[in-house]
Amino acid sequence: MLSIKWATLSAGLIIAISLRVTEADPSSADDSGPVKAVWQPGQDALRCTQRFGSSQKVTIIMVADPGKFSGTPESSFYVGAVQNKNEVPANITSCSDLLTGNILNQPVVVATSGIGPVAAAMCTMEMLQCSSLIKDFVYVGTSGWTSQLGGVLNAPGSCGEANLPRDLARIGDIAVTPYAANWACKLADYSGQCKGAPNLCSYPEEIYGPQEARLYGDCVFSQSSKAMLNLADELISATRTPQFSANVASLATDFEQRIAPYETAYFAAMSNGTGHQYILPPWRAPRVWDYNVAAEIDAQFFYSGVPWDMVARNYTAQTLNLATGRSLTQYDVIAVSAMEAVGVAPAINLHNQISGKAEVPYVLVRANSDYLYQPVQRAKSGNGWETVENPPPANSSVAYRFAIGTSSSAVLTMLQLRCLQGAANNVTACAYTPLQF
Ligand SMILES: *[C@@H]1O[C@H](CO)[C@@H](O)[C@H](O)[C@H]1NC(C)=O
Ligand SMILES: *[C@@H]1O[C@H](CO)[C@@H](O)[C@H](O)[C@H]1NC(C)=O
Ligand SMILES: *[C@@H]1O[C@H](CO)[C@@H](O)[C@H](O)[C@H]1NC(C)=O
Ligand SMILES: *[C@@H]1O[C@H](CO)[C@@H](O)[C@H](O)[C@H]1NC(C)=O
Ligand SMILES: *[C@@H]1O[C@H](CO)[C@@H](O)[C@H](O)[C@H]1NC(C)=O
Repeated sequence: MLSIKWATLSAGLIIAISLRVTEADPSSADDSGPVKAVWQPGQDALRCTQRFGSSQKVTIIMVADPGKFSGTPESSFYVGAVQNKNEVPANITSCSDLLTGNILNQPVVVATSGIGPVAAAMCTMEMLQCSSLIKDFVYVGTSGWTSQLGGVLNAPGSCGEANLPRDLARIGDIAVTPYAANWACKLADYSGQCKGAPNLCSYPEEIYGPQEARLYGDCVFSQSSKAMLNLADELISATRTPQFSANVASLATDFEQRIAPYETAYFAAMSNGTGHQYILPPWRAPRVWDYNVAAEIDAQFFYSGVPWDMVARNYTAQTLNLATGRSLTQYDVIAVSAMEAVGVAPAINLHNQISGKAEVPYVLVRANSDYLYQPVQRAKSGNGWETVENPPPANSSVAYRFAIGTSSSAVLTMLQLRCLQGAANNVTACAYTPLQF
């Protein structure tokens, strides 16, 4: 009895063990080819080479929207430029969409994480399994912006007049920053948040803001390394080159025909309401706003309205001050509102702090696809400010596509310049077909 029992038990054990070995054995899993291998943590270099389709370090380009939201997949312009494309099947990745290949002679992974910080963190973590093969990481996409540096209204203190027009943000403008904060991290109550309503020039009061990590975890991502700042600077400098001007030149007609009418109507209504004149020069190229004035402010709340924008600028100022030791206020910055950096930044920062792991430098690139508030006017009741009646309707599918186009141009121009450097300035070898709208 005893011995039979023991024999059965040990046979069971042996089967269990051998099954586990089969599942975990990388060589048997990889026999069927690179993309069919089941993804498991802790792969060796070979598995990462197969995973990324490259034995050289890759640039990861990650976006959020597969196209369900705006109608244009945010990866469109990169996918159009990829050679030796290899789609990774959906059943072996946590990203919404993943492909490998080359852009302008450089190995890349073009990943669509899906919308939101959780999806972004999951897809990022998956990429980080192969961090030793990652050169750098760009998270790029669309965002809602303040209409001018320092915003249109600022409470408390300057509600008598709207801010004078300066540094207007145009649709398609691009922010390049390593910094981010989570707008939703606050302890607040109704009477504080809505204090002053319906006057738009009211500052929502909170009991604690995003720096109170003991309440909601880390919500301000102001870390940067030399490599991260170098990457941000490389991208910013790329947008100041003749190549970038040439690459976006074809967008000028689209801007004038499809974006300018909305922008013009928006600022005309604003002018009507504030009494200020807003001058919109003819469009030549998107303006690139750097990390001295912009951080990515994330929330899962599609907020719009002056009070929330003021708070977003305050959080931006707090984040930039922590990053650089300056003393900016909400008057000195713009809010760039999106969703995913607060998933990406902690994933990569935590990874980079683990000893023995290769540092992955990252940068956030966000183009302006919409304004965070409607034009404002003095309230008819005589008390403060309100939204103008019948504000001009935006065509968001058009504006989002334009923003996807300009931000993609910035990233692709950086890759083009790297290509030229690697190919002794051979322009033919690094030819790039400028984007069509
Ligand atoms: C993944 O799906 C493909 C079909 O798209 C199938 O051929 C393959 O066997 C699946 N792989 C796994 C690991 O389930
Ligand atoms: C300007 O304000 C007037 C009066 O409120 C209104 O009739 C007109 O439509 C407004 N124009 C624009 C461009 O918003
Ligand atoms: C942000 O707003 C709070 C008031 O809610 C203020 O005390 C603080 O100084 C502001 N910080 C910045 C950087 O503007
Ligand atoms: C937005 O623009 C697209 C493309 O020009 C057009 O097909 C669509 O009808 C427009 N939508 C609205 C709401 O104006
Ligand atoms: C430049 O690149 C093209 C295309 O890759 C190639 O055919 C040509 O020989 C190169 N020219 C030089 C001078 O290397």
